[in-house]
Amino acid sequence: MAAIQVSLPQPGVTAMSAQDVLVVGAGVMGIGIAQVAAQAGHRVFVFDQREGAAEQACKQLAEVLTRLVNKGKITPAEADATLGRLVPAASLQDAASANLAIEAIVEKLEPKRALLRELEALLPVDALLASNTSSISITALAAGLQHPERVVGMHFFNPVPLMALVEVVSGLRTPAEVAQRIERLARAWGKVAVQARSTPGFIVNRIARPYYAEALMLLQEQAARPEVLDALLRAAGFRMGPCELMDLIGHDTNFAVTQSVFEANFFDRRFTPSLVQRELVEGGLLGRKSGRGFYAYPEGAPVVAAPKQPPPDGGKGVTIHGTGAVAQTLLVAARMALNGPEPATSPESDWIGIAIGSRQLRLTDGRPAWQVARDTGVADIAVFDELPGQPGGALAYAQTGSPAWRAEAPSWLQAFGWHPHEVADAPGLVVARTLAMLVNEAADAVHQGVCSPSGADAAMKLGVNYPAGPFEWLERLGPQRIVSVLEALDQCYRGERYRVSPLLQRA
Ligand code: NAI
Repeated sequence: MAAIQVSLPQPGVTAMSAQDVLVVGAGVMGIGIAQVAAQAGHRVFVFDQREGAAEQACKQLAEVLTRLVNKGKITPAEADATLGRLVPAASLQDAASANLAIEAIVEKLEPKRALLRELEALLPVDALLASNTSSISITALAAGLQHPERVVGMHFFNPVPLMALVEVVSGLRTPAEVAQRIERLARAWGKVAVQARSTPGFIVNRIARPYYAEALMLLQEQAARPEVLDALLRAAGFRMGPCELMDLIGHDTNFAVTQSVFEANFFDRRFTPSLVQRELVEGGLLGRKSGRGFYAYPEGAPVVAAPKQPPPDGGKGVTIHGTGAVAQTLLVAARMALNGPEPATSPESDWIGIAIGSRQLRLTDGRPAWQVARDTGVADIAVFDELPGQPGGALAYAQTGSPAWRAEAPSWLQAFGWHPHEVADAPGLVVARTLAMLVNEAADAVHQGVCSPSGADAAMKLGVNYPAGPFEWLERLGPQRIVSVLEALDQCYRGERYRVSPLLQRA
């Protein structure tokens, strides 16, 4: 395959103004991309098929730059220079000198293909054609061009000037050299670029699916209310819980992405969309933008507090079971809370948690409490969730448990400093299950060569603000624990959703 010679800016090169960029589509994303490119020193042509849209976009950008000057983020001279580099183009011909075109038009294959054909005929032969598509195959976009090797994905995140991530997406015909040049360019624009192979959802939109899907599964089986799910995942470090986040994104948009990933994977049931979300969409409960989703707006999610329990009665007969971060945290907390004799330990135990006489509070291994009770013959059992490295979060009981145990169990976790929310006895509870599924999806993406582990971590932290990357969770929780949770989920639900990635099986 002939590598095209392109002369995009190299890192460290400041005189980039000679390199012209054309942004097609002056919508939310196009304006953001134009701002970033112009601030990095390029002359930027902006074209939109809607009459007046490009001028309007440049005016809007002038206001954004004025606000940045007022906040002291840029100097007036920088704002003037940036504005001076923005050129609203009346036609694509006006931008025929561009060395790089980035399209951010409507998310439909045919209009994008038609545009790329037009650009190929118009721009210099060494110009690169980048697409900001969030879901269309780069291979499909490039098909039919004379030089499909000019096409590459440059997937920015919204709002472009604030979100650091760019997924650099290679189709079947994109040479590595082109992807690397785009990566260097994105870096020169102050972004973190992560390489991805063109597969449905690329990195972020694929790996993030379970964050929504597990919450929707739990809602469907009425395991917990949306505000409880949100509180639990916020306690685990996520900036927003899944329900409030779906309300913010809009259920129509979120459902469309899920559907597109599902269809693009030949209806792999692992990506099956949710009935709960479809009903919200059908009912026009789209989230914030329609005033009602899981929550009513402007009020938003009600605050939920775990009910306060009386302290447990003394510390006699307490044993801390198992090893690892959670067992260690429990031991330290027990010493402080019980303020009496050193708690007994049973590090060789095959479970992690607290025994109080014959009653047990166990860290979830994925099995629901009823199953643990059946397997062990212990009736008074409760299972709690993990907030990576710490106990806490959700708590569920086996139905065999006595009312006295149900009243007492949460007080032990509270005495140790955690405030559990009672949920239905769902496998993997809430946080452990969500993390296990995020790790599993990331593992599959790496297994299939879509991205590297460090690429997956960077993409999820920067693209959707996750508190850690999936491979960092894998490191922290260990493959055994992740696989145990997934296998328990798989056993409960059967079907494809919870199948364990070969990469995790091997680990
Ligand atoms: P938008 O609807 O705000 O803007 C699209 C613009 O493209 C409109 O101004 C429209 O007039 C113009 N347009 C449509 N067809 C055109 C054509 N053939 N030639 C020239 N201009 C044309 O859309 P938005 O949200 O900016 O999305 C643009 C692209 O970016 C889509 O591919 C989308 O999937 C992708 N994207 C969107 C993100 C988001 O959060 N909105 C995030 C990442 C990617």
